[in-house]
Amino acid sequence: MVSRVIPVDPFDLVVFGGTGDLARRKIIPALFRRYCSGQVPEGSRIIGAARSELDRDGFCDMVAGAIREFSGGRACEDGTLERFLQMVDYVKLDASGEDGWSELTHLIKEDRTRAFYLSVGPALFGDIAGRIRTHGLVNDQTRIVVEKPFGHDLESAQALNATLAQHFHERQIYRIDHYLGKETVQNLMAVRFGNMLFEPLWNAQYVDHIQITVAETVSIGSRGEYYDRAGAMRDMMQNHLMQLLCLIAMEPPARFEPDSVRDEKLKVIRALDPVEPHHIVRGQFDGTGDEPGYREEVGHPRSTTESYVALKAHISNWRWSGTPFYLRTGKKLVARSSVINVVFKDAPHSIFGTDAGGAANILSIRLQPNEGITMHVTIKEPGPGGMRLVDVPLDMSFAEALGPEGEDPPDAYERLIMDVIRGNQTLFMRGDEVEAAWAWTDPIIAGWKARGEVPKPYDAYSKGPLDADQLMRRDGREWRGIKP
Ligand code: BG6
Repeated sequence: MVSRVIPVDPFDLVVFGGTGDLARRKIIPALFRRYCSGQVPEGSRIIGAARSELDRDGFCDMVAGAIREFSGGRACEDGTLERFLQMVDYVKLDASGEDGWSELTHLIKEDRTRAFYLSVGPALFGDIAGRIRTHGLVNDQTRIVVEKPFGHDLESAQALNATLAQHFHERQIYRIDHYLGKETVQNLMAVRFGNMLFEPLWNAQYVDHIQITVAETVSIGSRGEYYDRAGAMRDMMQNHLMQLLCLIAMEPPARFEPDSVRDEKLKVIRALDPVEPHHIVRGQFDGTGDEPGYREEVGHPRSTTESYVALKAHISNWRWSGTPFYLRTGKKLVARSSVINVVFKDAPHSIFGTDAGGAANILSIRLQPNEGITMHVTIKEPGPGGMRLVDVPLDMSFAEALGPEGEDPPDAYERLIMDVIRGNQTLFMRGDEVEAAWAWTDPIIAGWKARGEVPKPYDAYSKGPLDADQLMRRDGREWRGIKP
């Protein structure tokens, strides 16, 4: 397969929080990988801006270390890293004071795209955005990139949107949800809208239900303080799973363009019914053996934060009325598995009799790992003995089907950063989308609080709380998708 790298003009990218964890793990390695692929042109500049007492050489050492550790062993020609480092600069800067801002201003070139990546906590968004403006750094070529968490409820998200809007147009704001940058997530749109096969069946008449699972084996690591305030509902459901739901459920956008796509996603979020309390299960993992439980990990013995959430959602529109969407996500589960299962209805009548066997068609879209698609179809079981039906998977792994490029797809951040530079907002969340997602999430969290609900315990490295299985079984259905 031919790799098509769309060139961009030289640009300036300033990473606030340039010495932080996200910059080291994701942003810098992503830029380096794009550089190796020939997409970051010579003459571009990557400027770290942070409070750390570093000079340019010290920052370059950090950048080189981050690349060695996190760029996935990308094999580059000799000298590539050295050439990449020539593009790197550093400014010691105080985000909420004046120190360093005039140095930064002098480094920024005229007449080229300048992107400001706010890889810092949301509390600093206002200060940084304001100083970018007062230092005369805003023009038509300016873009600002912000990370989640974009607020912790509707009110705080509205406040952040209002702060950013004081300094930038919406067309300049890039709100990252890194799930949208994943190749396989974009593939959801390709599968739905690039094939004739699925779309005619993609509605409540033919689809029994849809399951979205994002299961993680990892825990909360060093982010206990943030996570204990957020929980799985705010950390994953309100954003990543909500985006997956939108892509699966939205109407076909007229074009693959920012507002066409985002308008359709917004309609899905706004059509979501409030979730009934008995349609949600919260869980918190217990320790097993040497493994600490959630409360020990966060160092908060009475924490009632959920590390798992499963729920049943309904979308009240013509396409989906009557088809439930089951969503679940959790930490320290038995396997890492992000998968969407579209479970079709049974054939209306079995000409082979009710005892012949067979099963409903299921389209399984594996987002990670082992990215691919499986279509479960019914065929005849081989051999004599009458017509017995059996369910078999038509299985496609992208790695096998696409060769080396399918095996090593670009990281989400590679795609998203280059989209910022190209000025393409299609894979970024618009302000109204984020607010609508919070408007749906807030009453769920408020309900837990009002009812004094505590999460159900589940064993670390299990499939999650038993009540989540019950949520399905009550409806005569089963979860699919977490395989140890
Ligand atoms: C982040 C969450 O947004 O996504 C983390 O804050 C989570 O808690 C991570 O682990 C999952 O991302 P990925 O790309 O590993 O599936």
